[in-house]
Amino acid sequence: MTLIALVAGWDVSIPPDGTGLPAGSGTVAQGAQVFTAKCLACHGPEGAGLVNDRLVGGQGTLTSAAPVKTIGSYWPYATTLFDYIKRSMPFTAPDSLTSDQVYAVTAYILAQAKIVPDDAVLGADNLAKVRMPNRDGFVPDRRPERFPAPANTPHQSLATAPAAK
Ligand code: HEC
Repeated sequence: MTLIALVAGWDVSIPPDGTGLPAGSGTVAQGAQVFTAKCLACHGPEGAGLVNDRLVGGQGTLTSAAPVKTIGSYWPYATTLFDYIKRSMPFTAPDSLTSDQVYAVTAYILAQAKIVPDDAVLGADNLAKVRMPNRDGFVPDRRPERFPAPANTPHQSLATAPAAK
């Protein structure tokens, strides 16, 4: 596959307002099945963490001496969660889930974090409306951007894409 073809196949990332979310929806109960089959081995029962990241819990700990960063405690937008899972999970088979499966497992994780009720149905029409606990926990950085000109950076070589085959 050429680089151009590869890039053309990428979905555009989903912004907080949900623009570009694919059609579909899923329930918490459906998400529980997806989670058990595809996520539990790494993220543990109910997303409590196992060999890989803990996904739920930690709410209210961010300003404590031992902050626990999770979907529930840290992530500001549910749309980012959908986008991240759709592109990169399961870790060993990214982009292998259908949109319905991703909506469902997103709903399941948010239900475990007590952000949506256990009978929630999440989809393209309502995912952006989910209010995440840390929604206002990020502030814009008002400092001016001062990136060195690309030619002066040590990563200069990375700016050149490999020739398309
Ligand atoms: C083979 C192990 C494995 C499986 C299976 C897996 N994950 Fe992951 N997951 C990871 C690893 C490793 C990371 C950390 C990736 C990184 O930091 O780049 C991660 C990170 C995540 C994160 C981000 C956590 C954070 O706070 O940064 C989410 C959300 C997530 N996974 C959801 C899922 C879902 C949903 C599934 C099932 C559809 C799944 N994962 C299946 C290994 C796995």
